[in-house]
Amino acid sequence: MGTILFRLSLLILCFCCLKLNPCSGADRITATQSLSGDQTIVSAGGAFELGFFMPGKSENYYIGIWYKQVSPRTVVWVANRGSPVSNKFSSELRVSLNGCLALYNSSNVEIWSNRVSSAPHHSVQVVLLDDGNLVQLPNGSSPFPPNPPLWQSFDEPGDTWIPGSKIGFNKVTQRDISLTSWRNIEDPAPGPFLLKLGSNRSIELWKYYWPGHEWQRTLNFMNQFSYFDNQSETCLTYSQHKGSLISRYVLDPGGQIQLLSWQEFTKRWLVIWRQPAFLYEIDRYCGPYGSFTGESGSSPCRCLTGFVPASQVDYGSGAFYGGCYRSSPLRCDKTDRFWPIPVVRLPDNARISAAGSSKECETSCLSSCSCTAFSYNGTECSVWYVDLLNMRQDVPSGQTICINLAAEEFPSSNHKKWIDVSCVMNQLLPITRVIGRRLCWILYNYLTRPLKRKPTYGLEVCTCPPYHVLEDNG
Ligand SMILES: *[C@@H]1O[C@H](CO)[C@@H](O)[C@H](O)[C@H]1NC(C)=O
Ligand SMILES: *[C@@H]1O[C@H](CO)[C@@H](O)[C@H](O)[C@H]1NC(C)=O
Ligand SMILES: *[C@@H]1O[C@H](CO)[C@@H](O)[C@H](O)[C@H]1NC(C)=O
Ligand SMILES: *[C@@H]1O[C@H](CO)[C@@H](O)[C@H](O)[C@H]1NC(C)=O
Ligand SMILES: *[C@@H]1O[C@H](CO)[C@@H](O)[C@H](O)[C@H]1NC(C)=O
Repeated sequence: MGTILFRLSLLILCFCCLKLNPCSGADRITATQSLSGDQTIVSAGGAFELGFFMPGKSENYYIGIWYKQVSPRTVVWVANRGSPVSNKFSSELRVSLNGCLALYNSSNVEIWSNRVSSAPHHSVQVVLLDDGNLVQLPNGSSPFPPNPPLWQSFDEPGDTWIPGSKIGFNKVTQRDISLTSWRNIEDPAPGPFLLKLGSNRSIELWKYYWPGHEWQRTLNFMNQFSYFDNQSETCLTYSQHKGSLISRYVLDPGGQIQLLSWQEFTKRWLVIWRQPAFLYEIDRYCGPYGSFTGESGSSPCRCLTGFVPASQVDYGSGAFYGGCYRSSPLRCDKTDRFWPIPVVRLPDNARISAAGSSKECETSCLSSCSCTAFSYNGTECSVWYVDLLNMRQDVPSGQTICINLAAEEFPSSNHKKWIDVSCVMNQLLPITRVIGRRLCWILYNYLTRPLKRKPTYGLEVCTCPPYHVLEDNG
């Protein structure tokens, strides 16, 4: 009796497994096997896994492919990049009635689909291969050449380029096969950066601000690629020797392409190579009113004094391109003041004004409400009537720029005059600029001390740790 029960339960278990779940070891989704909740499929050799994941603290679920052996989880491809679901248990990835691979949310609404409906529903299977490629095939066929897949994820990469996947141009669909950055580390929706094949086999990094406005740069890539050019496509791929380290190229949310290699003993990804080599080479890396403050600190970008991040999540997670906005609007009257900032590189798109002194330069800026800043270097007055872009403060030298701010941003109205005087003085005498700036800082540190603490992202005010902290350490 016991044995019969045992066998029966085994049978039921097996049946349930077959019917409802892809069992552990299943590498495919078919008309009868869908995926939901914590279920995953694993490639035949155990290298890659596909299932629902939640990036960071986003509380959004996406279908992704990640390395089975790498922990922390590293996602190389995302299906529904711009359209997450909020509940993975009531959402389902399945073969739709018209033969697409599709994701349905809790209300059974189609959220994402691979848009390949070349076969009826029951004759399709979607297989996760050991190189990380997800391929859709007619149900009887093998996933290997010479059977061409109906669709493959390698033709639609996200931000990651793994061995075997492509970058190039599909001549049939007339579309680029390119990498696109994530919006930030918690949001796989496409960001503004694109890595694509350029002319003459070059690789180009593009940044799109809005249609018709972009920035482009050709990268010096490591020479390890295979180049294909036939009737159907022009593309670059690279391969990896069996048994060598796991590596991947990633276009990060800030716009840098990095080659990373997995170090099993330290459980970390090591950056082997990156382009552009310096983050400030990426156009508007810190966004409008963001300032580049160096790569060694905790964050390479800060909002200027008087400005706050446009998106706290983006600015806190390596995607600075959205920049910052003014925390108090300008009054556009005599109460607006200037805040001096030492810079190594002045912002783009200055206009030269005829002003012959720092005071005149200031007056010319104050006369227009759209003036965002001025800088007088002893001979020339530069004025900005645009968003401040590509400003750098990463070494302590250079010139001083005076940012137009509302009076509320200043320590207290009684001290306004002092600040202006110090800013002007600082600008007036190029020879004593350094001394002037020091004085400016000392004044600021002094003036800002009794202030109610407001979050500031611009000036680094030198503060000493409280006494008890020092004691605690000793
Ligand atoms: C499913 O998606 C549809 C369309 O985007 C949306 O209107 C609906 O609220 C979603 N359902 C749930 C439970 O999120
Ligand atoms: C495979 O497809 C054929 C029709 O193309 C269908 O008759 C058959 O049931 C399918 N097999 C499975 C296992 O879905
Ligand atoms: C293309 O690249 C080759 C080799 O690097 C170079 O000799 C040639 O001048 C390039 N052609 C153009 C049009 O840039
Ligand atoms: C073009 O080259 C790619 C890569 O080798 C290959 O997969 C594809 O089948 C080729 N297409 C044609 C029409 O030869
Ligand atoms: C001031 O700037 C102008 C143009 O940017 C430059 O030609 C000039 O040499 C600068 N003067 C000083 C004193 O730095």
